[in-house]
Formats: sequence, structure tokens, C-alpha cells
Amino acid sequence: MNATAAPPPDDVLIRIRGLCTVLNGKTIFDGVDLDIPRGRVTAVMGPSGTGKTTLMRHITGQLAPDAGEIFVAGRNVWKLDREALFDLREKIGYLFQNSALLTDFSVFENVAFPLRQHLKLPEELVRNVVLTKLQAVGLRGAAELMPNELSGGMMRRVALARAIVRDPMLIIYDEPFVGLDPIALNQIVKLIRTLNGTVGVTSILVAHEFSAVRRVADHIHLLAGGKIAAYGTPDELARGDTPWTRQFFSGEADGPVPFHYPAPDYAQQLGLSA
Ligand SMILES: Nc1ncnc2c1ncn2[C@@H]1O[C@H](COP(=O)(O)OP(=O)(O)O)[C@@H](O)[C@H]1O
Ligand SMILES: [Mg+2]
Repeated sequence: MNATAAPPPDDVLIRIRGLCTVLNGKTIFDGVDLDIPRGRVTAVMGPSGTGKTTLMRHITGQLAPDAGEIFVAGRNVWKLDREALFDLREKIGYLFQNSALLTDFSVFENVAFPLRQHLKLPEELVRNVVLTKLQAVGLRGAAELMPNELSGGMMRRVALARAIVRDPMLIIYDEPFVGLDPIALNQIVKLIRTLNGTVGVTSILVAHEFSAVRRVADHIHLLAGGKIAAYGTPDELARGDTPWTRQFFSGEADGPVPFHYPAPDYAQQLGLSA
């Protein structure tokens, strides 16, 4: 089929070309091309159900696309053998939509979990790494608490500490703001910025809260209708005047995403038409 695209230059951590995905007969991606620059925070926004989480699953090698190429750190994800794919995944920190903490484990053990999974590290080292990451998210003092003793914002921060415990090159935040009060939301916004300040780390932020995204993202890809509908800095997209950007960034009820789910003619259905 397509010739393999060349790996991108070093300053592009992720390059996607010609991505096509069909799930259950529904076209999710219909030729997506995008680059994610190294060392930056790049947001992926778009209406719900548009494929943002699916895109992340392609990037992390969890779900194969129907066509297209995905390069991460110079490697063609869907051409890697199991071991190399596993290796790549170890370098990605993933903050899930729901914090997904292990309820029977303390905060400390939740954060330690990825370290204990495959590596035989001395306990002293585990302790130092975990406490360092908890300190980074402001929760060193909460190490011995259980998840059910935490607020929603604290849970999210513990999950974040766990996502970075192995010093990933890429951190993916999938809807990190959902369900947080404004204070907790602000804390997460600041943390995303701070954590991305670590040399060389790249962040992808999947979110739909534009006011939060614009404070932290360098660039935004707007995903809609199976393609990248717009790309630019937050200010550029806020000023954008394509139908997609107008509807998405100013919250118009109707536009390319219709307010009405497809339905038969209204008058006819009510028996009003001749
Ligand atoms: N494993 C799957 N099998 C079939 N359909 C799926 C699967 N995962 C997601 N979908 C569908 O793909 C579309 C995109 O889903 P998703 O990526 O979760 O959207 P978003 O994260 O943008 O809200 C949705 O219509 C969803 O129902
Ligand atoms: Mg999603």
C-alpha cells in the first residue's frame, strides 16, 4: 500500500501520517496527519466521541490503525516487535480519565506500583523516588493515606505522581480536569506546566476545557469529523473563523456538529404534513 514515510526530524517526537481507523463500521479517522513537537505541551481537543482517546491508544501501541504511520521517538510504532513496543510503552506516562488508583493500596504503594512491577529495585531507592514524585505533586505528607481518604483533586495528583514515577519522555493526560473543582483544576494546570519543564519531557493534553487548556498548551490540534480540523496556538484557534473553530471555541449549539441527532421529518412524524 503506502510507502513508509520517513522518520521525522529530532524535534518532532510524534508524527502521524494518513491515519485511518474504522471501529464497528464507524469511521473514526479519515486521514489524520499531525506532528507533536518534542518538549512542548500539545493539546488535542474536539467534541466528545470524536476519537481523542482512540488516538492516544494508537500512539501508545494499544490499538492498531487500519492504515497510516505513527512514529514515536523515531520508531514506527506499528512495525515494532513485542519487546520494542513494550520498551516504548515504559517511556510513556499515562494519566487516565478516571484516576484509577488501586483502592486497597496506600498512596505510597500506588505510586510505587510501576516501579515494583518489573524492576527489582532496592527498597531505599523506591522510597526515595516515590517521595520525590509525591513531593512534586504536593502530597508527600499524604503517603500513608488510602485512596478513600482523598479528595478528587488529590486522587488525580496521586495518579499523576504514579504516571511520572519512571521519568517518562512523554506524558499523556486524558481529560485530567473532568470533575475537579476550580482550585483542584488550577493545581493540575500548574502541575502540567511544571512537569513539562523537566528537560526533554513532552506532554499531550486531551481536554475540552479551553480556558484551562489555553493556559498550559503551546499548540492545539482540533480533531473533528475524522480529521484535524484546525491547528495552531490557543490564541490563533480562539480567533479562528472556520465553522469548526467557531462552534468549538465559542460553544455555538449548532454548526458542523449538529444540535439535532439525525431524525425523520418532524412534521411528518407528528402527523402534521399533508
Ligand atoms: N474499542 C472500541 N470498539 C468500538 N468502538 C469504539 C471503541 N473505542 C471507542 N469506540 C468509539 O469510537 C469513537 C471515539 O471514541 P473515543 O476515542 O473514546 O472518543 P473521545 O475520547 O474523543 O470522546 C466513539 O464513537 C466510540 O464509541
Ligand atoms: Mg476520551
